[in-house]
Amino acid sequence: MPTKPLAARLILSVSLLLPAACWAAATPPATASSAVQTSFAVPTAAQLQAGAQVAQTCAACHGIDGNASSTQFPKLAAQHADYIVKQLHDYRVAKGAAKPARLNPIMNGIAATLTDAQIRDVALYYSRQVFKPGVAFADKKEIKLGQSIWMAGIPDRAVPACMSCHGPGGAGMPSRYPRIGGQWQGYLENELQLFRNDRRTNSPEMHDIASRMTDKQIAAVAAYAAGLRAPSESLR
Ligand code: HEC
Ligand code: HEC
Repeated sequence: MPTKPLAARLILSVSLLLPAACWAAATPPATASSAVQTSFAVPTAAQLQAGAQVAQTCAACHGIDGNASSTQFPKLAAQHADYIVKQLHDYRVAKGAAKPARLNPIMNGIAATLTDAQIRDVALYYSRQVFKPGVAFADKKEIKLGQSIWMAGIPDRAVPACMSCHGPGGAGMPSRYPRIGGQWQGYLENELQLFRNDRRTNSPEMHDIASRMTDKQIAAVAAYAAGLRAPSESLR
């Protein structure tokens, strides 16, 4: 009878694994992207208040503090405002397009009802919330594979190291690279599959990366990323 692998509950502190010098050396590759390039100035109290109002309509799924309590819904707390803005625009149908660049029946409906100002304010509001990190559910072997992909990529498939864009602790980098460390494992795995299968078409670079990965590699790196814990304060 095969022995069932023990699900290890691993909390990873990447700061222990990685010297700061490594991070400094890993600048993101200069690739063309449609991502929003501008960053917001410090939000005003009025914008945060307006954002909190809008967030009332998001709270059932994403939490009022952005720490979604169900693994079905991504955490938005401490996510970069520019990234949230881009996603909400991508869930809408762009001028001249036949369908939204990011398809999701729930979010397509919700994004269509928001004004540009509401999108900006709710993004600023969620970007200022304190992120509650997650955990990785995987066995040691899978975490090891995930860690090596995160830090070194998959050289024989020309997959770059995830941390070169998403940061060593997964906090991402404003304004182009989202925070993914500590996000729900299932959500991360699902998004990588959507990028790969061209069902999420709003990022040519992530399509390129995911399309060169196997199911096993995707699952392992999603588990590893879910266990990363970069502090909320580091970057917005
Ligand atoms: C009924 C549940 C529900 C509600 C209400 C809801 N969302 Fe979502 N949201 C989702 C789901 C499910 C996803 C993941 C969809 C996907 O895979 O594209 C998502 C994804 C997102 C994303 C993308 C996150 C990422 O990491 O890429 C953003 C941004 C977002 N929602 C913002 C909002 C905002 C702002 C509101 C309120 C105005 C809201 N959502 C209301 C269910 C919901
Ligand atoms: C060249 C830079 C770059 C590299 C390297 C990179 N990413 Fe990304 N990633 C991005 C960008 C840009 C986005 C945002 C795409 C968008 O606008 O929707 C993103 C988005 C994502 C998302 C979706 C996040 C969300 O909240 O929905 C996941 C998951 C992800 N990346 C995982 C990975 C993994 C795993 C690796 C390593 C195998 C990796 N990325 C390597 C640039 C990169």
